[in-house]
Amino acid sequence: MPQLVLDLHHTEADAARSLRADVLAGLTATPKWLPPKWFYDARGSALFEDITRLPEYYPTRAEREVLDREADEIARVTGAETLVELGSGSSEKTRLLLDALHRQGLLKRFVPLDVSTSALAMAASSIASEYTDVEVHGVVGDFTAHLDAIPAVPNRMIAFLGGTIGNLERQERAVFLRSVHDALGPGEWLLLGADLVKDPGVLVPAYDDAAGVTAEFNRNVLHVLNRELGADFDVEAFDHVARWNTEAERIEMWLRARRAMAVTVTELGLHLSFDEGEELRTETSAKFRRQGLADELHAAGLALRRFWTDSAGRFAVALAQVTATTGG
Ligand code: SAH
Ligand code: AVI
Repeated sequence: MPQLVLDLHHTEADAARSLRADVLAGLTATPKWLPPKWFYDARGSALFEDITRLPEYYPTRAEREVLDREADEIARVTGAETLVELGSGSSEKTRLLLDALHRQGLLKRFVPLDVSTSALAMAASSIASEYTDVEVHGVVGDFTAHLDAIPAVPNRMIAFLGGTIGNLERQERAVFLRSVHDALGPGEWLLLGADLVKDPGVLVPAYDDAAGVTAEFNRNVLHVLNRELGADFDVEAFDHVARWNTEAERIEMWLRARRAMAVTVTELGLHLSFDEGEELRTETSAKFRRQGLADELHAAGLALRRFWTDSAGRFAVALAQVTATTGG
């Protein structure tokens, strides 16, 4: 008998409040910016899935290669009975972990948590119908705010895959990793997927594909603002820009106004202007080095126990454990 619970930790009213606050803060700043979590309405989540299949977008395939190779080892080392997944999306690669934990007779519970109701509902229901002896407890929530929704049961592993850690700014990562530490108990585990620093000749096309899917994904945030906040962005008047920031070692996605524009966000009573060529930052995607990642984990009280990469050395999967002390 499949067991499926969907916990709406983030109600539509919460999401609306949080969107308004983010848009007000971001669009009145210089330069203008928006947090990447607002890409992911049903269309944005579907576009992200399309991105994962693009020839230029290597992270999904590279991470799957590592999980395919190491899932049994991850299950053996962690002995995890509950797998929590943050920013779970389609949970497609996660099945490799679920299968390995299941094969070793460990898996009792799967807890996917995502801000996208559509992605979460689809993934949670299909996993519940396939893994009939596993409790699936989906949480619609924000991983920067709702880790208290993770069930307090023994032997948990939190998976945070896809390189989504890179979509947090450095300071946000420090707060987030500390909150992961605090949500877990001593000896419990974090499995972290992180994209690695590499040639911008590989990185930039991964965020500026020839078919224009990433451009559509990027512009989707303006559709979200038009629909949710009664904004009147002329979405097609913005060009997609993906740029490697050498100093910060991150890809940045921007939307560049093709002409001068006035925009009204009706529900916020906000009147904005864009100069011709003005850019709005929509996402940063930080890339990591092994030592930097180990240091950030250590600072949050998480000890790096294993570090794997795909055979081409493009993407890393790190396994970290909550140390007995708080890590300072
Ligand atoms: N883990 C999947 C999906 C990555 S896409 C993979 O590796 O392919 C990023 C996912 O994180 C999306 O499903 C998006 O809805 C979710 N997300 C982004 N910001 C979030 C936040 N603040 N809280 C919860 N989920 C978030
Ligand atoms: C979800 N996240 C890790 C993706 C990334 O690569 O930063 C989002 C994305 N943005 C553009 N393409 C994919």
